[in-house]
Amino acid sequence: MTLFDLSGYLAQKRRSIEAALQECLRFALSENSRLREAMAYSLMAGGKRMRPILCIAAAESVGGSQDDVMAGACAIEMIHTYSLIHDDLPAMDDDALRRGKPTCHMAFDEASAILAGDALLTLAFEVLASDRFFRSHHPKRTLEAVRILSHAAGLAGMIQGQMEDIAAEGAFLTFDQLRHLHNLKTGALIEASAEIGATLGGGSSRQVRLLKNYAKDLGLAFQVIDDVLNVEGDPAVMGKAAGTDQIKKKNTYPALMGVSESKNFAKKCIESALHSLSDFDNKTNSLRAIAMYVIERKR
Ligand code: IPE
Ligand code: IPE
Ligand code: MG
Ligand code: MG
Repeated sequence: MTLFDLSGYLAQKRRSIEAALQECLRFALSENSRLREAMAYSLMAGGKRMRPILCIAAAESVGGSQDDVMAGACAIEMIHTYSLIHDDLPAMDDDALRRGKPTCHMAFDEASAILAGDALLTLAFEVLASDRFFRSHHPKRTLEAVRILSHAAGLAGMIQGQMEDIAAEGAFLTFDQLRHLHNLKTGALIEASAEIGATLGGGSSRQVRLLKNYAKDLGLAFQVIDDVLNVEGDPAVMGKAAGTDQIKKKNTYPALMGVSESKNFAKKCIESALHSLSDFDNKTNSLRAIAMYVIERKR
């Protein structure tokens, strides 16, 4: 068996995604403005691009291509970046560092950061739905992607999760309540990334369902490790502050069960994620490698 070159795969996908995101910004607004500058500042600050890569990998695992799903991949990364800009605002987590740079509201100002987030959210749906950005040969699949993304990003998913995260500061959540919160605030968009990839890539309904299950477990593990890194990660490597969850009395897995139990729990989630891939052929090598990466990552 040949070993899958994950770092080569991630680097190559990151390059394609970043080129496509640049193009989207250029098409969206050719002249420079403060708003566009603030959007580009955060969007092009060099995140891991985990969600769009997952979207592409899911498409490839059902026989689709990168081109089939680039609109979805870019839309997802725009929604994710907007969520980070708003997450960092003083009214929310009040963070000063993100992706190795001052947060959007620190580099610009609060109003600009709120509006840059709003504009990324709306641009995401324009990118998915408008042929001006990427030509869709499957309008029905595109419509389904819009449905999945709007559902996951909104009050049934990420936004509700963010609301619960803020509301629970200083309160005590049980294991099940915390899992529910993490599934919403982080899991929903990660799950949608695989579901959109498999849908735009032309997967069968069974394949879409299995990849969605895979990504649900992956998303939970991803947030558990985010919590762990907030305790023991290196801010210089992560590009964001550590130790802040404890200061803000956030509900996290390490606070509930300690760091080493949290890592064990994340591993169990990943085993379960891998189980959902067991019926697939070797086209899921990238998804298997991504699953291992999620628990081993340092940033
Ligand atoms: C950070 O997401 C916020 C969470 C939902 C855990 P990432 O760790 O994917 O952040 P970037 O995109 O790499 O900056
Ligand atoms: C961020 O969660 C989740 C969203 C932005 C939807 P956190 O607040 O835990 O993530 P970081 O640690 O700031 O990246
Ligand atoms: Mg937060
Ligand atoms: Mg935060």
